[in-house]
Amino acid sequence: METILVVDDEKNYLVVLEALLGPEGYEILTADNGADALTLVRESDIDLIITDMKMPGMNGMELLEECKRIKPELPIIMMTAYGTIEMAVEAMKKNAFDYITKPFQNEQLKLTVRKALKNFRLIKENRLLSEALSDRYKYGNMVGKSKPMQRVYDIVEKVAKSRASILITGPSGTGKELIAKAIHYGGPRKDRPFISINCGALTETLLESELFGHEKGAFTGAIAMKKGRFELADEGTLFLDEVGDMPPALQVKLLRVLQEMKFERVGGTRTISVDVRILSASNRNIKDDVAAGIFREDLFYRLNVIHIEVPPLRERVDDIPLLVRHFIEKYRMDEGKGSIELSPEVWKLLYTYSWPGNVREMENVIERAVVLNSGGIITTEDLPEELIGKKPELEVERFIPPDVSLSKALEQIEEKLLRRALEQCHNVQSHAAKSLGITKSLIQHKMKKYNIVV
Ligand SMILES: Nc1ncnc2c1ncn2[C@@H]1O[C@H](COP(=O)(O)OP(=O)(O)OP(=O)(O)O)[C@@H](O)[C@H]1O
Ligand SMILES: [Mg+2]
Repeated sequence: METILVVDDEKNYLVVLEALLGPEGYEILTADNGADALTLVRESDIDLIITDMKMPGMNGMELLEECKRIKPELPIIMMTAYGTIEMAVEAMKKNAFDYITKPFQNEQLKLTVRKALKNFRLIKENRLLSEALSDRYKYGNMVGKSKPMQRVYDIVEKVAKSRASILITGPSGTGKELIAKAIHYGGPRKDRPFISINCGALTETLLESELFGHEKGAFTGAIAMKKGRFELADEGTLFLDEVGDMPPALQVKLLRVLQEMKFERVGGTRTISVDVRILSASNRNIKDDVAAGIFREDLFYRLNVIHIEVPPLRERVDDIPLLVRHFIEKYRMDEGKGSIELSPEVWKLLYTYSWPGNVREMENVIERAVVLNSGGIITTEDLPEELIGKKPELEVERFIPPDVSLSKALEQIEEKLLRRALEQCHNVQSHAAKSLGITKSLIQHKMKKYNIVV
């Protein structure tokens, strides 16, 4: 039942409105002054306010402003007597839903009330829908609903507004750059540039002039002044990709710039001040590099105020179906093709493959399959060799030491298969048993044997 709050200092209006709207199936609350009305707005779930304009104490306009502050979307209908139309116009400017003049036509009032409530319902539904979507499946351009991705979304949301430096680590192709962009575009710098630079792809000299710019004639080939990425990113974000690969000499310079936000262009003397937020990424474990003396510890702490770790795709199988559908849609549209489904075998392969190239590899696999496919159903024919290929043999080579006895080796494989099946079936033992083609009691027996607790 929808609740309408009626506010008027003239008590007989409260009685009239209650008698008019109550039978329409609404719950009616009343208040004869603005202060009481505000308390009700704060404490009850109200869907619509109808308020008189002229009241002693807090008048209707002030009530409108206060309500918009507390609950901006709550619709408010203003009631005005003849002669105060200017105030009604003023109220509309302040986002009142509508106004009616006293004395009002009953039918007109009922109609306005229905419109306001319908509008509010749509707003609420839309909000619920978008919250549900952003919560579970998507954030910025990132797709995924697994626990690790939900954690990533949570951190991104929290840090987007701050200017803290953030280090994003994870294997190649897991979406580190996408996360950096989500942070930039989710925060106050979103209308300023997002500039990225790959610190691993350039020589030391080139990287330095790319970062800080150079003056005309600074070195052979410097035929004109060039601004560096720090300057281009002013008031925005600079994304230092593969920061772990930065040459040691530049690490020192970078540290100084990060501390002072000041630097000189190569070959220049003028000091340039900037305001740049730093995000960085690495697919190496920089902590190990610090321990090995390859990466400066002080710089590491500067960059790593907040750390986001992105797990490999095989550790978040829950994201696989969403990502697959996302990429199918993307490339299907690009290719101008109709609806595309996947055969059950293909689904199984996509789930069990180890995805060493992570989401980037999956994107490529799906793009290729969509392009090759003609019948509307993607089959194993459309997949690259490594997905259908001889992967199990390779896994054995990789995981089982060469000098182990046959029975020990088989046990190790058995344990791995059990763990993987359980993980893929969200620890539902009967499902895992079925996928392995064994009975539930046998899987329980084997779980005991290998000490697998779920
Ligand atoms: N969660 C995700 N949802 C949708 N697309 C994703 C997701 N994660 C990655 N991608 C896509 O996968 C590709 C690789 O992502 P990205 O470049 O961000 O990875 P990376 O971690 O920076 O990789 P590298 O370490 O190799 O630079 C991009 O095309 C990106 O759009
Ligand atoms: Mg990257």
